Amino acid sequence: MSKSGGRRGGGGKERVRTAKKRTASSTRWLQRQLNDPYVKKAKHDGYRSRAAYKLIELDDRFKLLRGAKGVVDLGIAPGGWAQVVRQRAPKASVVGIDLLETDPIDGVTILQMDFMDDDAPDKLKAALGGSADIVLSDMAANTVGHKATDHLRTMGLIEAGLEFAVEILEPGGAYVAKVLAGGADDSLVKQMKSHFKTVKHAKPPASRKGSSEWYVVAQGFKGRPDEA
Ligand SMILES: C[S@@+](CC[C@H](N)C(=O)[O-])C[C@H]1O[C@@H](n2cnc3c(N)ncnc32)[C@H](O)[C@@H]1O
Repeated sequence: MSKSGGRRGGGGKERVRTAKKRTASSTRWLQRQLNDPYVKKAKHDGYRSRAAYKLIELDDRFKLLRGAKGVVDLGIAPGGWAQVVRQRAPKASVVGIDLLETDPIDGVTILQMDFMDDDAPDKLKAALGGSADIVLSDMAANTVGHKATDHLRTMGLIEAGLEFAVEILEPGGAYVAKVLAGGADDSLVKQMKSHFKTVKHAKPPASRKGSSEWYVVAQGFKGRPDEA
């Protein structure tokens, strides 16, 4: 590919035509990517994604990973968060799941499947082999551009993550999930507050200002009622 994204071998005309084919939004994405200090930093620091810095910043603020023994990473690919988990909680069992293939990460068990599949929670539990101190979810539903549908699909992922977290967390554990603009809706926050001592919204500096993503951080899991 030439710098303009067009194929080699054509004259100026072909390049212009090919460049024109790129949508304005993909050109903006490419420019942003090329100039993004976090992309450069990730390359330099050996992280697979710039997303790694979001977890670093969330962990610096909320002390999520300190002393963790069991961590579940929902939406693990390409693996930036898992790399941070391995560095900050080297003794923890770590299990991740993603629809996409993830290159192996030393010390991490990776399942390639849909977290929304009925058997995904049991498979994750079996792979972890015990309870977790933290369930992380950086999953994002593929947006279709229809606001209400996108919101519902994202909420579906967060709720399923919450249900799973309630099943697998140790008392005192935490659940962190990516949410879209406006954050988790009231009923979800209410639900979270019934299970966790604190529920906060955070936008780490590495999360692009223009993006609508936020994170909801629920800490201090109160435990399962049947085990209280
Ligand atoms: C923003 S990326 C995660 C980046 C990752 N935290 C990192 O640091 O490299 C979101 C991931 O969620 C995954 N995902 C979305 N829906 C999913 C689902 N239902 N089951 C499993 N993975 C899902 C996507 O395939 C994508 O790889």
